Amino acid sequence: MKLSNRLQTLHSLVSNDYQHIWDCCCDHGFLGVQLLADNKAPHIHFVDIVPSLMNELEGKLTRYFPQDNSEQQAVTSQWQVYCMDVAAIPLEKHTGRHLVIIAGVGGDLTQKLVDDIHRQHPNKTIDFLLCPVHQQFELRSHLKSLKFSLIDEVLIEENRRYYEILLVSNNSGEAEQSRSVSEISNVGNKIWIPSCDEQVKVSQQYKAKTLQHYLRIHQGQEKQGKPSKVKHIIDAYQAVKP
Ligand SMILES: C[S@@+](CC[C@H](N)C(=O)[O-])C[C@H]1O[C@@H](n2cnc3c(N)ncnc32)[C@H](O)[C@@H]1O
Repeated sequence: MKLSNRLQTLHSLVSNDYQHIWDCCCDHGFLGVQLLADNKAPHIHFVDIVPSLMNELEGKLTRYFPQDNSEQQAVTSQWQVYCMDVAAIPLEKHTGRHLVIIAGVGGDLTQKLVDDIHRQHPNKTIDFLLCPVHQQFELRSHLKSLKFSLIDEVLIEENRRYYEILLVSNNSGEAEQSRSVSEISNVGNKIWIPSCDEQVKVSQQYKAKTLQHYLRIHQGQEKQGKPSKVKHIIDAYQAVKP
């Protein structure tokens, strides 16, 4: 099955360094299934809170990725399906490096889920691959305040919507010796350095759309005689030079 551009970009950011990959809020599990088909990690975990989705997914995985062949088990990824709140995923039951993917839900929920997981496993190094729908500035600011470090960031456009994809680690930069990581910026860095003409257009349009959004909020707050809560966000995006 062909993945959308957004899911393909997420897939391309997953390295082979993990023992456990958690496809959280997985819905039909398209991304996790591709990671499973590509044997991206020894264990792929699928998590969503909707029972009917998870039953259907479990049926498909059982059919297309049977796990009862012990010879195969050594070379192919194992999978597990969980119908539960992502906030409670049982990372503590598994040793090795973890990648937690949370994509396609709002920035506020993404922030809450990352917070919950990080708080429950303060001594575990966890990488998070995030693709929030909206509230990117707020999510980035929060991750920065938690002293997460940035491994990579990408901006993409799909069906006239713009998505930031963030690969971050809950390990602070100083503790990350083997990888090149940087501080998280509230508005992003690399996403504003386009690699081709198409990407110049995408970043310019994304900047314009984001500014429009916050200017509308700013004007609404002014009309109501309230102090602006988003002026600093507008200033930050206005300073960006795509
Ligand atoms: C739009 S889908 C995202 C699918 C896929 N991750 C993607 O990026 O295309 C959002 C999914 O998140 C699930 N979800 C929302 N809140 C959740 C939570 N707290 N725990 C587990 N799943 C949740 C919903 O049931 C839904 O299937």
